[in-house]
Amino acid sequence: MLVYTCAIMRNISQPIKTMHPMTLIRKLKPGRCYKLAKNVFLDLRYLVKTYASFHTIVLYIAGRMNNDRITRLYLPRQSAFIDAKSALSLSTDWFTHHIPQWFSVFDAYRLLDRSQVKVLEIGSWEGLSSYFILHALPDATLTCVDTWEGADEHKSGRYATQEMLSNVEQAFDRNLSTFKGRLVKYKGTSYSFFNTAQPDQRFDLIYVDGSHHCHDVMIDAIKCFEMLKVGGVLIFDDYLWRYYPDFIDNPAAAINLFLKLKKGSYKIVRVYYQMIIEKIDDR
Ligand SMILES: C[S@@+](CC[C@H](N)C(=O)[O-])C[C@H]1O[C@@H](n2cnc3c(N)ncnc32)[C@H](O)[C@@H]1O
Repeated sequence: MLVYTCAIMRNISQPIKTMHPMTLIRKLKPGRCYKLAKNVFLDLRYLVKTYASFHTIVLYIAGRMNNDRITRLYLPRQSAFIDAKSALSLSTDWFTHHIPQWFSVFDAYRLLDRSQVKVLEIGSWEGLSSYFILHALPDATLTCVDTWEGADEHKSGRYATQEMLSNVEQAFDRNLSTFKGRLVKYKGTSYSFFNTAQPDQRFDLIYVDGSHHCHDVMIDAIKCFEMLKVGGVLIFDDYLWRYYPDFIDNPAAAINLFLKLKKGSYKIVRVYYQMIIEKIDDR
């Protein structure tokens, strides 16, 4: 087990490995260090309670150690997008902080070089992540699936007001109006979309960010994986989000069980707050 952990760490945590231990200790300020250790501990406990595999847990730890190194390169492109999004009507932003990770995946999978990239998004809200996809991938077409009625966390009033909910679809339409030719809008639940979609429809990139209840996430995971091309990338948002009091009602439980079910058909690309996988086999 230890050898396995070390092998993964050696592959992806070079800067920390080569740092002298005393330099590392000096760099970590005690208050920050305590907070970081506490967060990592809570995440690890959560991952264990939601059936994460040992491999996933190791990749999560490696991700924590490497996040800064991976994303640093993409911060200028994130800043450029922040300027571009200032023209949008937004009441919330649940996406911009993921942009460096997304760019690193776009580069690793050469999504910018692929022609006619097909993207599916489950859960678009006011269209910020949709806008980013169409802005960053100029040759892409995007299918957005949403009820535009909000999910449990919005309807409960915890993450949105009634006023925000009543404006969300209008904001989406306004924000995406410049991309009309490359956008397909489907209004309804993801479940109804899967039932009406063409059986042979396949996508290069799929973003799952709709309902966060584990039952819905499980259906989204299975159906989206089916609709993903081999070599395509599937991104789950809110992998580590704890909203429902019972841990197993949250996205992680569904994602971890889905990963067990499909073992051998995917490669985990990145584990942090989001879970990013590549489909390697059509099973
Ligand atoms: C967190 S928001 C999406 C945020 C968006 N991806 C972004 O980053 O800006 C979740 C969205 O999922 C939608 N939603 C909730 N349950 C759904 C379902 N069963 N099928 C489709 N969409 C759903 C909600 O209406 C809401 O707009």
